[in-house]
Amino acid sequence: MTTPGSTTTAKVRKDLAAGFDVAKARQDFPILREKVQGKPLVYFDNAATSQKPQVVIDTVHEFLATYNSNIHRGVHQLSERGTEAYEQSRKKVQRFINAAESREVIFVRGTTEAINLVANSYGRQHIRAGDEIVISAMEHHSNIVPWQILCEQTGAVLRVMPISDAGEMLIDKYEKLLTSRTRLVAVVHVSNALGTINPVHEIIRLARRQGVPVLVDGAQAVPHLKVDVHELDCDFYAFSGHKVFGPTGIGVLYGKAELLEAMPPYQGGGDMIKSVSFEKTVYNDLPYKFEAGTPHIAGVIGLGAAIDYVNGVGLDRIATYEHGLLEYATEALSAIPSIRIIGTAEEKVSLISFVLDGVHAHDVGTILDHDGVAIRAGHHCTMPLMQRFGVPATARASLAFYNTKEEIDVLVRAIHKAIEMFG
Ligand code: ALA
Repeated sequence: MTTPGSTTTAKVRKDLAAGFDVAKARQDFPILREKVQGKPLVYFDNAATSQKPQVVIDTVHEFLATYNSNIHRGVHQLSERGTEAYEQSRKKVQRFINAAESREVIFVRGTTEAINLVANSYGRQHIRAGDEIVISAMEHHSNIVPWQILCEQTGAVLRVMPISDAGEMLIDKYEKLLTSRTRLVAVVHVSNALGTINPVHEIIRLARRQGVPVLVDGAQAVPHLKVDVHELDCDFYAFSGHKVFGPTGIGVLYGKAELLEAMPPYQGGGDMIKSVSFEKTVYNDLPYKFEAGTPHIAGVIGLGAAIDYVNGVGLDRIATYEHGLLEYATEALSAIPSIRIIGTAEEKVSLISFVLDGVHAHDVGTILDHDGVAIRAGHHCTMPLMQRFGVPATARASLAFYNTKEEIDVLVRAIHKAIEMFG
């Protein structure tokens, strides 16, 4: 395992970790003061959704309580204020992922909608019978099913890059999948079920050599790593607000302007048009062409506050601190003889999936819950990946920068209880 962004030297890493005050960070998250089953909450389900700092809660509340209005439509004060805050958030997202222009940032419901948008718009425009779409064996269902639907509709074929037993993409096999028939590559940046940080830079470079566009599912990457779409040179990048400490129901599709410009709208309705008549509709410019209907205004404004918050903490500091948590948790869990960790890649975020001999993942989850420990148990919307590892489900502890080593100790004690009960 190496720290994400492995150019960070050991010394710099130590200094960054030393500069991070987890006790102070925890105070920003009111939910961390909650008790569950009479025990202090140990929230290890951050890959499902992360918790919200007070500033995000306050920002959404302030919008709803003091300037709730619709945007891009009204000439009144409230609407102007709402529009300004909404468009400011777009600029924050642009800077956060280093997009060249703010019109390359499309607000959608989440990663799932972002991928469906590309499949329905770009996909239907460019993909024909016999064409191939390359994905990997560790994709979330949201980066499998939209492509399967597209394949059913067009006669295109889905190709799947295999992965190693450690849960790493096999790049040599991927290279062989890239042929003159390949029209699109769609891969996950960080696996939600294994924690693997994938070499998307290399994946994009190899696709680019053949002129194949690449979509990256960044849902699990943005809360942990600095993402730079310019440096990656990806064509599309998707992520969800609620995994990066913002509200649910809001997410982002980044797309290169020249691609988005040429794509047909995904949905029709208000705000995505310049003019409408029964004879002809003229579509709006980017980004509005892809934002039909009243958007999730409170969500967008809340996402802007979440991005400010994350920038304040610092993603370098977050990655460094979380790396320490990952090492500590990996060592502690590996010491339990009946545990098998699923996903042992060199490069991982702070996420551990595991199976316990003789105990179903759901039972592990239920017993942990009695000690206030929230994890996710199941297939994590990655059924083909579970099949690859020959397990029906795993228990998954996914950690954020507000988690602590003491909480990992609570997890380990609770796992021992599960072993005693079922062993
Ligand atoms: N995709 C989310 C997860 O991995 C919901 O839990």
